[in-house]
Amino acid sequence: MSILSPQLMPEPYRIKMIEPIRLLPEAVRRQRLAEAGYNTFLLRSADVYIDLLTDSGTNAMSDAQWGALMMGDEAYAGSRSFERLQEAVRDVYGFPYLVPTHQGRGAENLLSKSWIKPGQAVAGNMYFTTTRAHIELAGGVFHDVIVEEAHDAGSNLPFKGNVDLRRLEALMDRTGREGLAYVAVGAPVNMAGGQPVSLDNLRQVAALCRARDARLVLDGARLVENAYMISRREASCQGRPVAEILREMCALVDAIAVSAKKDAYVNIGGFLATRDKGLYEEAMNLCVLYEGLHTYGGLAGRDLEALAVGIREMIQDDWIAHRVAQVEYLGRRLAARGVPIVHPIGGHAVFIDASAFLPHLSQDDLPAQALAAWIYQATGVRAMERGIVSAGRDEAGRNHRPSLELVRLALPRRVYTQTHLDYVADGIARLHERRAQLPGLRFAYEPPRLRFFQSRFVPEPIKAAA
Ligand code: F0G
Repeated sequence: MSILSPQLMPEPYRIKMIEPIRLLPEAVRRQRLAEAGYNTFLLRSADVYIDLLTDSGTNAMSDAQWGALMMGDEAYAGSRSFERLQEAVRDVYGFPYLVPTHQGRGAENLLSKSWIKPGQAVAGNMYFTTTRAHIELAGGVFHDVIVEEAHDAGSNLPFKGNVDLRRLEALMDRTGREGLAYVAVGAPVNMAGGQPVSLDNLRQVAALCRARDARLVLDGARLVENAYMISRREASCQGRPVAEILREMCALVDAIAVSAKKDAYVNIGGFLATRDKGLYEEAMNLCVLYEGLHTYGGLAGRDLEALAVGIREMIQDDWIAHRVAQVEYLGRRLAARGVPIVHPIGGHAVFIDASAFLPHLSQDDLPAQALAAWIYQATGVRAMERGIVSAGRDEAGRNHRPSLELVRLALPRRVYTQTHLDYVADGIARLHERRAQLPGLRFAYEPPRLRFFQSRFVPEPIKAAA
């Protein structure tokens, strides 16, 4: 049976505008990679052929969204565009209060500053880089309460993003009501390979939070993808519309922090939405300091319009089904050629298991950083490290040592075709065939915060093959 069949799912759109891309010769790519300090974040977009660095803000907008841009009401205060966004958020997510922000980390900042008192704990299902940074900036301490299987690239559990209820309960026992600022559930879990949380698990977390008088928040950057995977994998939800599952998830929590640059098909934007009036008032007030007035939050009126349309598009079942099918297609092509990837395949990206791809490297050789660099050199495809470099250092300056060393191939929405994905899979499979010759990297420069964005590296001398 072909790996395409029976899931062959042609793009539910046709192309109305194109953007040229070009593949530089390998010798030039080698030079550009060295100039970028072997960090794919420091490459120029013009030097990249297929850009799978992130699915964040890299989406193609629909004709309806481009049309809506023209309707932007650029009033400083009380713009009609804000009202349209508020209606979309109420209809789709079900929250009465909305504070727009320039992107997801703006919402994380408002939430952390509003709800964390210095020294308090925040529980979550695996860290995300900017989320943990804002928790720590507000004086909080992040505690990971994800299920153990999330740390195992080989485990095939359908909901590897789930919260381990016993670990959460044990943390609550230790901190007491006053020691815990809130529980933040990421759905799906980006750093674990895009793994979803089940509706059943979220219900249980919500029940535990209610019983302990703890506040519960969702990181909703890719909530539609999570809801779609629930509709496919959770027995009690088979065939339920994604829109309905998403509403039910939101109904279980007090607030949601959203990077709209993912699900909602826009290039910029985010928001904090809540049913808690106290949080709303505090965040709305902080918004004026950090983002802009609470009816634009650092965005232009036209951005609010495109987002309002995108929020209504994102829950349509054929859009989300095609998006996840594209990611699955790339993952299956890679796996069929023997490239080690994280299973099950996530909703926004394929994650390559860099430790298994480069077994001759130790974690100190920065295997995922190195693999992302060598993928660019070999193919012109840009990917992202999600391993020890992204994990950063603890307060004492020691490296966090995540159990997963991953390279993420994230698919922008509605941007690339199946032929592009075939090229990516073929190029990486060929690189895998000569993996024994690939060296590790070491740091040449390391900035103090979120180091993965701006660090520079140099290749390690090749070690003798084992
Ligand atoms: N939460 C999650 C789960 C994310 O993946 C991101 C961003 C954010 C919050 C922050 O949102 O970028 O709009 O400020 N993830 C991007 C990525 C950067 O490539 O995965 P932001």
